Amino acid sequence: MNPHGSRAFAPGRVNLIGEHTDYNLGLCLPFAVDRGVTVTAELRDAGEIVAPGLPDDDPYLRGAVAELRATDMDLPGCTLAVDSDLPREAGLSSSAALSIALVLALTAAAGAHRPEPADLARLCQRIEHEYTGVETGLLDQLASILGEEGRAVRLDMRTLDSRQVALDLGDHALAALDSGSSRSLAESGYNDRRAECERAAELLGVESLRDATDWSGLPDPLDRRVRHVVTENERVDAAVRALEREDLGALGELLDASHRSLRDDYEVSVPEVERAVDACREAGALGARIMGGGFGGSVLALFPPGADPPTGALPVAPSRGARVL
Ligand code: GLA
Repeated sequence: MNPHGSRAFAPGRVNLIGEHTDYNLGLCLPFAVDRGVTVTAELRDAGEIVAPGLPDDDPYLRGAVAELRATDMDLPGCTLAVDSDLPREAGLSSSAALSIALVLALTAAAGAHRPEPADLARLCQRIEHEYTGVETGLLDQLASILGEEGRAVRLDMRTLDSRQVALDLGDHALAALDSGSSRSLAESGYNDRRAECERAAELLGVESLRDATDWSGLPDPLDRRVRHVVTENERVDAAVRALEREDLGALGELLDASHRSLRDDYEVSVPEVERAVDACREAGALGARIMGGGFGGSVLALFPPGADPPTGALPVAPSRGARVL
């Protein structure tokens, strides 16, 4: 440990495909982006942990400190500085990045070992569940932790197995376009979807929707929720195969199919998002879809060489994951 303190960086994430599958123990294909949150912890004599740049009752700070203490970690007094170049509430997981960077900086300041990826992801997920009340899965945390340059990571949320997949875009480009509709009102909608999936699994008599095969007897809209989850899992592996044969046209079609399913079956789109998707398509995108939890946030689009993405679109490329600096 540096005697003066520590510093850690955690990136935001883009999910290429595999949306609302993580809490159904399904498949996802995210990557870490090159923007994120940096937390610097400077040791101080007094025993408290203070973060002048965060609100007094910031749930991520409270959660990180409480969850680390619950592992018996002896945290030293320190002043935390938080610096971010990630837009907030744009669906790029700025909150997961903040909690991971806080946890890594505090762990390093305590002179303790970095937790294993799955343990770190679960600890940060508990911060979301217990301190912000959003029942997220593990997608955002694992994407930020496991990111590698030039690769997306195929995540199996049942086993937590991960496999890096080369994401070679050639002259194509991926970009995230903020719909302008903030995700801050999204929580209740997100938790509602999660509850619907639990109910559907119960009615089908399966442990999770990963195991659903026949949902024809379910009432509407539960049948459509299940259809989204099952077909989205299939699209993840179809996307991996498309990347392996460098077929970016097929990848674009899968992004479009994912969007249709999220809009019509899972019903997590809003008019601002539809307009952002249309703007990307008009700019020549090979595919575009709502990304992340939905009800606002960003759209992800794949552009062919020479296309001119809409104003404000942020180029995103797979980058290195969270680390102590
Ligand atoms: C949010 C959650 C993730 C995941 C996505 C939807 O980003 O934090 O756990 O459920 O929505 O795929």
